[in-house]
Amino acid sequence: MPSRPISFSPGPSMLPDEVLAKYVAQVTSYRDFGLGILELGHRTRQFEDLFDDTIDLLRTLLHLPDAYELLIIHGGARFQFSMLPANHLSPERTADYLESGHFARAAAVEAAAYGGVHVAASSSRSSFLSIPEVNATRYSKDPAYVHYTSNNTEMGTQYERPPQPPESTWLACDASSDLLTRPFDIAQHGCIYATSHKNLGTAGLALVIMRRDLLTPVRPIAPFMSYATHAAAKSRFNTPPVSTILVLRLMAEWTAANGGVERMASLAEAKSKLLYEALDHSEFYQALVHSRHRSKVNVTFKAPTADLEERFQREAEEVGLVGLWGYRKVGHLRASLFNAVPLEGVERLVDFMASFARRSK
Ligand SMILES: Cc1ncc(COP(=O)(O)O)c(C=O)c1O
Repeated sequence: MPSRPISFSPGPSMLPDEVLAKYVAQVTSYRDFGLGILELGHRTRQFEDLFDDTIDLLRTLLHLPDAYELLIIHGGARFQFSMLPANHLSPERTADYLESGHFARAAAVEAAAYGGVHVAASSSRSSFLSIPEVNATRYSKDPAYVHYTSNNTEMGTQYERPPQPPESTWLACDASSDLLTRPFDIAQHGCIYATSHKNLGTAGLALVIMRRDLLTPVRPIAPFMSYATHAAAKSRFNTPPVSTILVLRLMAEWTAANGGVERMASLAEAKSKLLYEALDHSEFYQALVHSRHRSKVNVTFKAPTADLEERFQREAEEVGLVGLWGYRKVGHLRASLFNAVPLEGVERLVDFMASFARRSK
């Protein structure tokens, strides 16, 4: 495959060359079946095998305990913003949300359509450049669940460890941007979900890890909205995104072949350290987030002016470093270091940053 740009996009992210090559080979004929992956029926034996293998691989990678179901559901993470409260919130109950970023806030907004929402802690006063402080967290009396976002893709902050919910309830986590980039203690959660277009492949689905006793909704809801429906139908209540599931499987295989989640975590550590050190030693760039709250997968920074930031992105693109835009609501610059971004890609970025700074003083 000819040399391709390194993408630091927040999603859809770049895919490893091996994954792309394997996917392309299956487009015209899936495993010598004659029909390609884009034409493969979801009721075929071939898809059945693909699906089962994918689930098995992911269960192993995630160290999933037996008490948890693993579902593949259309609609990305935003559908989960709505599906979770549809199943577990009611007009008589309140769910607590930790508002650590724009997506965390969006999740709370969706939940408010189903019942009470209490923002137990928020970092909005720091423009979401920090994780809400534990000692400033005020849970409601008897929350249905506590929702948090483990990594805030937009501003580049990350929880070091899960928050501690009140004993009477359970923790729900949007891990869209850091699932498979570090180990998760699944048993501390009732539910973890992640959109697919960052570390799990390409857009089109969400991976949902749900404790089995939480699959049944707390009140009658439409069948399509219910986790129990999707679990009973083995994630095939309606036609699943077959080709996105192949990409998911190829990414899971690639992750396992490259040392699993533990190795991905040490790579994320090395990549982000390189970049933060370059930022902290620079008089030109400035990291946006205080070191205590920094994400290992989304590094946000700024240059002295908006014009320079625009030129930075243009010139970076010319040398094959793309996707460095900041979150659309705030601007600045951001390098997303998802699993497929190689360490050498970050080294190239750091070199480019140094030369751009020298040229632009
Ligand atoms: C933390 C987080 N949650 C939710 C989403 C929304 O994902 P989707 O657009 O796939 O629904 C994103 C998307 O980038 C995200 O970063």
